[in-house]
Amino acid sequence: DKANYRHFMAKEIHEQPEVVGHTLAHYVDMATEKVAMPVKLPFDFKDIQRLSITACGTASYAGFVAKYWFERLARLPVELDVASEFRYREAPLRKGDLAIFISQSGETADTLAALRYAKSQGLHTISVVNVPTSTIARESETALPTLAGPEIGVASTKAFTCQLAALAAIAIAAGRARGELSETDETKLVHGLIEVPRLMTEALALEPQIEKLARDIAKSQDVLYLGRGTNYPLALEGALKLKEISYIHAEGYAAGELKHGPIALIDEKMPVVVIAPYDRVFEKTVSNMQEVAARGGRIILMTDAQGAREATVDSLVTIILPDMPATVTPLVYAIPVQLLAYHTAVVMGTDVDQPRNLAKSVTVE
Ligand code: M6R
Repeated sequence: DKANYRHFMAKEIHEQPEVVGHTLAHYVDMATEKVAMPVKLPFDFKDIQRLSITACGTASYAGFVAKYWFERLARLPVELDVASEFRYREAPLRKGDLAIFISQSGETADTLAALRYAKSQGLHTISVVNVPTSTIARESETALPTLAGPEIGVASTKAFTCQLAALAAIAIAAGRARGELSETDETKLVHGLIEVPRLMTEALALEPQIEKLARDIAKSQDVLYLGRGTNYPLALEGALKLKEISYIHAEGYAAGELKHGPIALIDEKMPVVVIAPYDRVFEKTVSNMQEVAARGGRIILMTDAQGAREATVDSLVTIILPDMPATVTPLVYAIPVQLLAYHTAVVMGTDVDQPRNLAKSVTVE
């Protein structure tokens, strides 16, 4: 039931503080601010030389964010694949290494085929799944749940942020096991995660501003999304969300790639959504925005108070989020990104929960 919402997608966006909180409570000890995995893993992270992460669509973007986390926090090299490629590209895999599969439904055919392939190659397998009775959950060596509750809207929203919450906890556990994070590091990181539901509630309060912006986006033919670091996968996710429910063409790029091609597309008609909390690469993103502004492009900047102060760029609309540790920005910035796609689709009058040509769970390869 949609409660008082017009669409399941709106309800599911608004449920995120709660369900991300539930998911976190499953992976961390709120009192001691330490990671507490719900099951004992049948391997030691110290023995893993390479992690392979595989998924489709939005779940693959959660995996892409996790790649940054595992590499930075656990110094564990990660290969990320979309499932349809992983299964057939004959990647050299080392027996005893680890493969993580991410899926909301747990029934996605490509992801399942990739899981079976990894098992046949002697890899340890973890699935991060929202449906605990699903095939992928059953067939993986270790099934780690997300506690998003049933997701009805075809566009994935709360499953995505719950996947991020679980993956962040697993990455911290890996960092501890591999001796790359101290106990103090762990507490700091877990503390940051525990703050996420509150930060998400604050981000949801930006909805009226985003609703207004959506009227403008709805007039565009193409939209570009830019981000750096863990917000680069979020830019990809923003573009996917917009195209699947509003049918407006959108692309996500690493901000630094702008001048290697997509800048040719920029004119007054093309909005550019920049996802850039103030961080060590912010200055570089400012120069990317200046390049956009110089060509008449309109910029929507999702940032924090400091970012808004430092962004010396014309024709800018800023969406200001609260301050937060860098690690958790993709979880919280997901909210304005989802709301922008949602309200644009509402303006366009599309079937938000059941967009054309799409199925909630893709069970053919
Ligand atoms: O059920 P899964 O997480 O395996 O589904 C993967 C993709 O099909 C899914 O994320 C798809 O991209 C969504 N429609 C995105 O909103």
